[in-house]
Order: sequence, then structure tokens, then C-alpha cells
Amino acid sequence: MIGLKFSLLSIVSLLTVVIEASSDDDTVYCNSTIGACPDDKPCCSQYGVCGSGVYCLGGCNPRYSYNLSACMPMPICKDSQTVFNNYSSQVKNQYTYLGDAEANDWIYEGTIADYDDENALLLTMPQYSDGAVLSSTRYMWYGKVSARMKSSHLGGVVTAFIMFSSVQDEIDYEFIGDNLTNVQTNYYFEGDLNWTHSSNISTSDTFDNYHVYEIDWKEDHLDWIVDGKIGRTLYKNHTYNSSTGQYDYPQTPARVQLSIWPGGLNTSSYWTKLWAGGEINWTAPDIEDPGYYYATVQSVNITCYDPPSGTKQNGSRAYRYVNSKNFTQAGVAITNDTTVMGSLDDSGFNPENGKSSSSSSSSSSTSSRSFTTQSRASKSSSKGSSETSAQSGQTTGTSSSSQQTGFVQNMKSTSASAGGSSSSSGGAGSLDINANGLMHAFVVIAGAVLALV
Ligand SMILES: *[C@@H]1O[C@H](CO)[C@@H](O)[C@H](O)[C@H]1NC(C)=O
Ligand SMILES: *[C@@H]1O[C@H](CO)[C@@H](O)[C@H](O)[C@H]1NC(C)=O
Ligand SMILES: *[C@@H]1O[C@H](CO)[C@@H](O)[C@H](O)[C@H]1NC(C)=O
Ligand SMILES: *[C@@H]1O[C@H](CO)[C@@H](O)[C@H](O)[C@H]1NC(C)=O
Ligand SMILES: *[C@@H]1O[C@H](CO)[C@@H](O)[C@H](O)[C@H]1NC(C)=O
Ligand SMILES: *[C@@H]1O[C@H](CO)[C@@H](O)[C@H](O)[C@H]1NC(C)=O
Ligand SMILES: *[C@@H]1O[C@H](CO)[C@@H](O)[C@H](O)[C@H]1NC(C)=O
Ligand SMILES: *[C@@H]1O[C@H](CO)[C@@H](O)[C@H](O)[C@H]1NC(C)=O
Ligand SMILES: *[C@@H]1O[C@H](CO)[C@@H](O)[C@H](O)[C@H]1NC(C)=O
Ligand SMILES: *[C@@H]1O[C@H](CO)[C@@H](O)[C@H](O)[C@H]1NC(C)=O
Ligand SMILES: *[C@@H]1O[C@H](CO)[C@@H](O)[C@H](O)[C@H]1NC(C)=O
Ligand SMILES: *[C@@H]1O[C@H](CO)[C@@H](O)[C@H](O)[C@H]1NC(C)=O
Repeated sequence: MIGLKFSLLSIVSLLTVVIEASSDDDTVYCNSTIGACPDDKPCCSQYGVCGSGVYCLGGCNPRYSYNLSACMPMPICKDSQTVFNNYSSQVKNQYTYLGDAEANDWIYEGTIADYDDENALLLTMPQYSDGAVLSSTRYMWYGKVSARMKSSHLGGVVTAFIMFSSVQDEIDYEFIGDNLTNVQTNYYFEGDLNWTHSSNISTSDTFDNYHVYEIDWKEDHLDWIVDGKIGRTLYKNHTYNSSTGQYDYPQTPARVQLSIWPGGLNTSSYWTKLWAGGEINWTAPDIEDPGYYYATVQSVNITCYDPPSGTKQNGSRAYRYVNSKNFTQAGVAITNDTTVMGSLDDSGFNPENGKSSSSSSSSSSTSSRSFTTQSRASKSSSKGSSETSAQSGQTTGTSSSSQQTGFVQNMKSTSASAGGSSSSSGGAGSLDINANGLMHAFVVIAGAVLALV
């Protein structure tokens, strides 16, 4: 812990994309009350905001997108073993990723760094930042995923390892920084924020020790396994919902997401802070050295299981939703459709538009936002932290002014994104009280906000 030689950390050279909105008023939302996105911003992001480009990739919600063609097809599961040793340069920035899962197994948002002493990757959360998210580019539709990792620590700091689907089925491990011997597990079905399904597994200090956390997800049941020992089992047949006649069981293709995020912001609600273990101390020793809170990931392995029997299969490249009225596993097919966009102006309507000519500008219609990239490299050394902070501050915008509802990574967003109760992801189920005074659980997500301003 404190004795680690962080001087050997090397902060990766990061490409950060700054997304600027010409006007906040241009933001178009999508969710169950507002409805679907318009055709010129057809994709509904994980955070309930309409757009094209990155909005149409990982986490694009088909239910509130313009139609079923808007979201890009989802790269199919492939067995993989990733050892995050000197690996950061192979993790692609989420805002420059165009959907090529052959080229990149992982994408990130926020700041990540190699930690050479432990042959590991750090997900970092510098002072006043929104943390970081690491997402698989491929989706898993039943399978086993295991992560060898250490959580972060201290009150208000949340680490998550989850599976998250485009229709917001979710399977979670959540680590709350003020109780390091307790790992919370949870699941959600189609974004229904019922937080009562949480359950705990105890283990030895998750910040000091590596553990292997596993999610073994089958069609009829799912196990949370810590260090080889089953800590919790959920049977599908126990999730039957008699009012809808369906099983409230996670069942759609989902990405693997790992994240660190600030549950305990001073702007978080009372319930969120309570769940997250209090307010974050932004002057804690980690903020001095190495310069950020951090979670440590050594490896993540994925074993794919067969899709449900009866799945419509016409190819072997991608999953896609094919029934606009049914977002259970019955509405998912396997196709040979491309998962790759030609440019960040494209969507599932015209995935290859940008390929031939970058001036195929539908950009006026796709968004008023401009994407600009800037690359900055910062050096290692424990005191390189100040640069890290600067970098992060620039990319994450105003986390303090955002309406942090307990979402996870409200990254790069300003007021717009965080607010939506629509999104959730990565992380945890935190609680909030909405305008009506009702308590809602916001599934905390490990996602990043695609929703900018
Ligand atoms: C969705 O809308 C686009 C643009 O209007 C259209 O080209 C496409 O055929 C539609 N797809 C479906 C499945 O309706
Ligand atoms: C880390 O990876 C980079 C680029 O992949 C390579 O140039 C460098 O030699 C590697 N460093 C170590 C210590 O293996
Ligand atoms: C993943 O596989 C690698 C290579 O076989 C192995 O070294 C590592 O321990 C595995 N990690 C997990 C979390 O299972
Ligand atoms: C951590 O959480 C577990 C489960 O709720 C509880 O039994 C334990 O007392 C907690 N430990 C601390 C230090 O709060
Ligand atoms: C939440 O789930 C529990 C257990 O499945 C159920 O009894 C309860 O009615 C649900 N709450 C809401 C608000 O749907
Ligand atoms: C899990 O542990 C947390 C933290 O200790 C505690 O607040 C919560 O009530 C526990 N949940 C269950 C279902 O026991
Ligand atoms: C649910 O499934 C489990 C495992 O398949 C089985 O043991 C159990 O009997 C089933 N329960 C019900 C109520 O069908
Ligand atoms: C059944 O599903 C409905 C619609 O999603 C939901 O509102 C309700 O809370 C669910 N019931 C239980 C017991 O979880
Ligand atoms: C935050 O951490 C610093 C350094 O350990 C400590 O001096 C300070 O008292 C802490 N602040 C709070 C509010 O706990
Ligand atoms: C899907 O693409 C693969 C690889 O290009 C090809 O071998 C296969 O025949 C295609 N399947 C269908 C149904 O078109
Ligand atoms: C979706 O389709 C499955 C299989 O046909 C069915 O059991 C389920 O009730 C359907 N759900 C909805 C919401 O139509
Ligand atoms: C839908 O989005 C609007 C605008 O952000 C928000 O006010 C509303 O609460 C959201 N509704 C739901 C159900 O999330």
C-alpha cells in the first residue's frame, strides 16, 4: 500500500477527447418518459442522451434509440485472457474507438496507468475527478468472467466489476471503500432499479490483497465466486415476475466493465453517500502520492458459453436486438453484420459512411458537438501526479456541479448527463431520492458518460 514504489508507475500516454457542446440546449434525452431519439441523433447512450458516433457503440440502448438499426451491432463473445502487464498502451480511448473489437479488446475512459511493480493496470481517480472505467469491447452472452484485482479504499470511493448490457441487465461486484472485508453483489433486470437484490460476501481486505472475483453466468443460474468459492447463487426460476410473466434475470449480451468512481461526492445525495461510506477525502494520502485513488487489475479472463438454444443465427460476428417489443434474450439474434463505424459521425444506419470520405458530413445533423482530440503524455514518478490531476480535471469537467445521483462515472459530463435516472452502470446500487421523494436505487454504473453536456 503506502510502501509501494509508485515512482515506477508510468502514466500512459493518453488521448483524451474533449467534447464541446456549442450549446447546452442541444442536448436531447431519451428514456421511458421522454421516449426514443430523433433520426438525426438516433442513438440513446447508456446515460439517456441522444447522439451518433460513440453513442451508437458500447452501451447504446436499443429500446430508446430511433429504431433497431441505430445502435451498432455488438461484437460477439470470444474467449480471451488478458494479463494487464505493461498493457495500457493497448487499451483504446473510448472516444476514438470505432467498434473494431479485432483490434482492441479493451477501451477506457478517465485515466489509467501501468503499475510495473505488480504487473498490473491502475484505474485512477485523481482529485475531484470522476474516476475511470475499463470496458471490454466484446459482449458476453452467458459465460464465465474472472478478474484478479484489488479494490481501492477509504470512504466514498467505490470500485466495481460488473457485466452491463445495452438494455441494462446488470451483474455486479461492488467494493465500498470504508469496508474492505465486505464485497457487495447485486443484479438488475432491464434497468429496473430495485436495489433489494443486494447480498454480501466477506473476504480478506480487498485493498491489500488480490482476489479472483468470478461471475459464472448461465442461462438458468448465476454464481458469484470469490477465490474459487461460490459466495452467492441466483436461480433464474427464482426471479419470475408474475405481473409481467417474465423472468427478471440478467439475460442479454453484456460487456465487462471495471471502474473506480466517487460515490461520496459532497454533491451526492444523503443516501448515495451513506451507501458509499461517507464523503470522499480529497486530501487523503493517496492524492499526494501516487496522486490519485486507484484500483489495481492484474488479469481478466473470459470464457464464452453457447447462446440460448433457439437463437436466430445468421452469421457469427455480432449480436443485435431484432424485436422492438421484446428486449429479453428472445429478442437477440446473431448476425454477420459489421460492428465497425467509418467515422464518429456515423451510426448503425450508415456504419461505413465515413470510411471513404471523411467529408461525408452528416455532422451538422448528427450533432452540434465537435470532437477534438489532444494527446498528452505524462511521465511517471510519484510527483507526476500533478500532471495527472491537470489532465483529469480537463477531461472530466465539473463533477462537482453535476447532479451526481450515484451513477457511476459521470465522466466528461456537465450537468446534463448525470441527472438521468435512466442510466446506470458499472457499479453499484446507490440510493437516491427523486423529486417525488421516492427512493430509487441508481444502479451505479461503470460506464462513462457518453452524454456530454
Ligand atoms: C431505421 O431508420 C433508418 C433511417 O430512417 C432506416 O434507414 C432504417 O431502415 C430503419 N430501420 C428499421 C429496422 O426500421
Ligand atoms: C512496454 O510496452 C511498450 C510498448 O508496447 C514497449 O515498448 C516497452 O518495451 C514495454 N516495457 C516493458 C518494461 O516491457
Ligand atoms: C487468466 O489467465 C492467465 C493466463 O492463463 C492467468 O495467468 C491468470 O491468472 C488468469 N486470471 C484470472 C483472473 O483467472
Ligand atoms: C463490513 O460489512 C459487513 C457486512 O455488512 C459487516 O458485518 C462488518 O461489520 C462491516 N465491517 C466494518 C468494518 O464496517
Ligand atoms: C423488488 O424486488 C423484491 C424481491 O424480488 C420484490 O419483492 C419487490 O416488490 C420489488 N420492489 C419493487 C419496488 O418492485
Ligand atoms: C451488506 O453490507 C453493507 C455494508 O456493511 C450493509 O450496509 C448491508 O446492509 C449489507 N447487505 C445485506 C443484504 O446484508
Ligand atoms: C430452480 O432451479 C434450481 C437449479 O436448477 C433447482 O434446483 C430448483 O429446484 C428450481 N426451483 C424451482 C422452484 O423450480
Ligand atoms: C415486475 O416487473 C414490473 C415491471 O418491470 C416491476 O415494476 C415490478 O416491480 C416487478 N415486480 C417485482 C416483484 O419485482
Ligand atoms: C483527509 O486525509 C488527511 C490526510 O490523511 C487528514 O489529515 C485529514 O484529516 C482527512 N480529512 C478528513 C475530513 O478526514
Ligand atoms: C459469416 O462470415 C464468415 C466469415 O466471413 C463466413 O465464413 C460465414 O460463411 C458467414 N456466414 C453467413 C451466414 O453469411
Ligand atoms: C419475449 O419473448 C419471450 C419468448 O417468446 C416471452 O416468453 C416473453 O414473454 C416475451 N416478453 C415480452 C415483453 O414480450
Ligand atoms: C428522462 O429524462 C429527463 C431529462 O433528463 C428527466 O427529467 C426524466 O426524469 C427522465 N425520466 C426517467 C424515467 O428517467
